[in-house]
Amino acid sequence: MTEAIKHYLQFTDLSANEYAYVFQRAAVIKKKFKAYEKHHTLADRTLAMIFEKASTRTRVSFEAGMYQLGGSVVNLTTGDSQLGRAEPIEDSARVISRMVDLVMIRTFGQDKINSFAANSRVPVINGLTNEFHPCQIMADLFTFIEQRGHTNHPLECLKGKVVAWVGDGNNMANTWLQAADMLGFTVHVSTPSGYEVDPAIAGLTHSHGYKVFTNPMQACEGADLVTTDVWTSMGYEAENEARKKAFTDWCVDSNMMAVAKPNALFMHCLPAHRGEEVSADVIDGPQSVVWDEAENRMHVQKALMEYLLLGRQ
Ligand code: CP
Ligand code: NVA
Repeated sequence: MTEAIKHYLQFTDLSANEYAYVFQRAAVIKKKFKAYEKHHTLADRTLAMIFEKASTRTRVSFEAGMYQLGGSVVNLTTGDSQLGRAEPIEDSARVISRMVDLVMIRTFGQDKINSFAANSRVPVINGLTNEFHPCQIMADLFTFIEQRGHTNHPLECLKGKVVAWVGDGNNMANTWLQAADMLGFTVHVSTPSGYEVDPAIAGLTHSHGYKVFTNPMQACEGADLVTTDVWTSMGYEAENEARKKAFTDWCVDSNMMAVAKPNALFMHCLPAHRGEEVSADVIDGPQSVVWDEAENRMHVQKALMEYLLLGRQ
């Protein structure tokens, strides 16, 4: 019964064609939001959000977004639900998915969200796992398209572009690799030794969409977009001190931005640590689009929720 349900567990769960639609729709939805026009396509639908890790943007963007679509939201965390008292994820999925129309989960291993989805009667969205953060990359791509392309033919401006990833080989890096492979751009990945990206996690059996650089400056050369993330992701806090030492040279500063294209953009999924993975003059400077990037989480996720429940409109 569950095989026809469309989940969004990793970036590859939508095709390029579906992304083109979702980006176009997000642009329409954003325009209506800015004009205070009602857009209640998910009236009477309920979204359950499950947070096993902290969040600001994901929580606010999904919750506000669902209300703006006319629906309602239930918020669960590990601490205030039976998930924290060892109720199996499969049982939680069976129960929760009988009462709501859509589920968003932020958790640790991808295996957990996969198990939830396998037992869910409704679509499940990945709001971040240790392996992937697809909603964030969707927002990042939409932001790039707004800045450098056209939402009427959204994927064109991505072709042949270079995205420099400076930092940890983490959930964001894995998802960038998946996006590049599908949408025809290249990721220049530079991580400290011991923190390399593992293309097998992204499901890649070839290296067309990415190039590895030991020197972060070289990764930034000629880039259209420079992006980074925290040195220590949620769940890896025990490694914090070792990471601080290993990542010292992986700070996106004005020298790195200077070797990228003159019109290169800077993105960061946030939260950011100024003076660690990015200097204040870069994140607060003219090439940074981080606030649009954060806001766009809400617009693309509204389009995604609508698409998973209603298909093309
Ligand atoms: N970028 C992002 O997912 O932010 P939060 O951790 O605040 O949700
Ligand atoms: N890589 C970070 C992203 C936070 C939005 C983490 O997983 O903590």
